[in-house]
Amino acid sequence: MTSTRPAAVVVLAAGGGTRMKSATPKVLHRIAGRSLLAHALYAARDVGAEHLVVVVRHDEDAVAAHTRQLHPAAAVVEQDDVPGTGRALWCALQALGEIDGEILVTMGDVPLLTAETLRALHEAHLSEGNAATVVTATLPEPSGYGRIIRADDGSVTANVEERDATPKQRAISEVNTGVYAFSAGAVRDALPRVGTDNAQGEVYLTDVLALLHDGGSRVGAFAIADTWQVEGVNDRVQLARLGAELNRRIVERWMREGVTVVDPATTWIDTDVSLGRDVTIHPNTQLRGATTIADDVVLGPDTTVVDTEIGTGASVARTDATLALIGPGAKVGPYAYLRPGTRLGSGGKIGTFVETKNATIGDGAKVPHLSYVGDAEIGEGTNIGAGTIFANYDGQAKHATKVGAHCRTGSHNVFVAPVEVGDGAATGAGTVVRRDVPPGALAVSTGAQRHIDDWVRRKRPGSAGDRAAADAQRRSGEESS
Ligand code: UD1
Ligand code: CA
Repeated sequence: MTSTRPAAVVVLAAGGGTRMKSATPKVLHRIAGRSLLAHALYAARDVGAEHLVVVVRHDEDAVAAHTRQLHPAAAVVEQDDVPGTGRALWCALQALGEIDGEILVTMGDVPLLTAETLRALHEAHLSEGNAATVVTATLPEPSGYGRIIRADDGSVTANVEERDATPKQRAISEVNTGVYAFSAGAVRDALPRVGTDNAQGEVYLTDVLALLHDGGSRVGAFAIADTWQVEGVNDRVQLARLGAELNRRIVERWMREGVTVVDPATTWIDTDVSLGRDVTIHPNTQLRGATTIADDVVLGPDTTVVDTEIGTGASVARTDATLALIGPGAKVGPYAYLRPGTRLGSGGKIGTFVETKNATIGDGAKVPHLSYVGDAEIGEGTNIGAGTIFANYDGQAKHATKVGAHCRTGSHNVFVAPVEVGDGAATGAGTVVRRDVPPGALAVSTGAQRHIDDWVRRKRPGSAGDRAAADAQRRSGEESS
């Protein structure tokens, strides 16, 4: 390792991205929970260069705003109306001024490239004494890329763009990945001499390679074996392809860290997710955003978790959860929907066909079946009966319900908010709770049950029900005689 760091990393992101056919700029499309630009920018940042520059098309556009949000320390430089990768770097150099040292160039649409690769490029560039070093890849299907022309000593004499290449040059399978290291002085010297006499009428950055070589400087190639790292996104087919590969890498990394993934092909984990030891992930599970999973958690199958924190030993099956907090040892699902602001205490339960929103459910408290819990606080050790609705909305405003600790509420209750149930209270089945319930009281709101004898005999004579009732009456008459 040398101790020097590059003077600058420049990320080119001013291209059109027309092949995406999208209202969203290409580099703002996402894989693994981050924009393409964020992947490229964070790799560039982690190189630890003195300057980080992102070249954008318009200073006031969404790409510039996104860059500033991701990394406020990055310099955002606008490319002028002259097109081409060479012009993009030239604009960056104008902003950087007369700096010494090396400049690394990467692209905003190449998301799998790592900081380690960029550092290795920098090392190779320095140790070979090159004026320019181009990262190359040997591809079985090189079409669309610039082809690398090498001299007998292995140094690079030129890059030829596909559109400008002869059939013989097109047969070359070593391509330009668009990632480079340059000595600042050399590239500052060469770039103004690059013309636009090519098939696209653009200032090709690639022409710098031949200019430097022809001027007697050494141009090297840094061949990369892991070609995924230098693959760019030009259309949505490549977006999905690179998204799947990045996911495969993330899932594999977590398996090596001690996570059991039953079906890697249907498990999707975003870049910023963190997972503990001995987590088990069943098929069809997506872990997205800033989700944090502690040790020994069991997730899935068929579960989507977004920006959610799950404590040690909890289990979450067939669930959709966003911005929720699930305590240690808690159980969620199957078939639960946890909306933002759900906080489930340790050992608590949100069971089957239960929807929660802005709800704090205490330690050991349970909402096991068929319920909606919105804008609520439920104390520790309380059990909410099956089929309960927390009626939080009066048609105009939302109101809160508080149920105390160690309550036992009956099945099919409605809590009409705002309302409060005291600690240790109980409610009967079918209760509609409209007034506060004192601690320890039993609330009932349904009328006493009454029976209209022989209603079926009179209304439905001869029906199956009538016959069954008659049999039952006869049997109980025989028993009592
Ligand atoms: C470029 C290379 C090609 C290489 C390929 C690798 C040139 C002339 N060709 O071709 O040799 O094989 O990348 O993927 O460099 N950009 C700007 N301003 C512009 C044009 C492009 O900032 O005016 C940025 C784009 O946002 C993108 C990158 O530069 O991040 C590459 O541009 P793109 O148009 O995709 O170049 P390619 O035709 O793929
Ligand atoms: Ca490209």
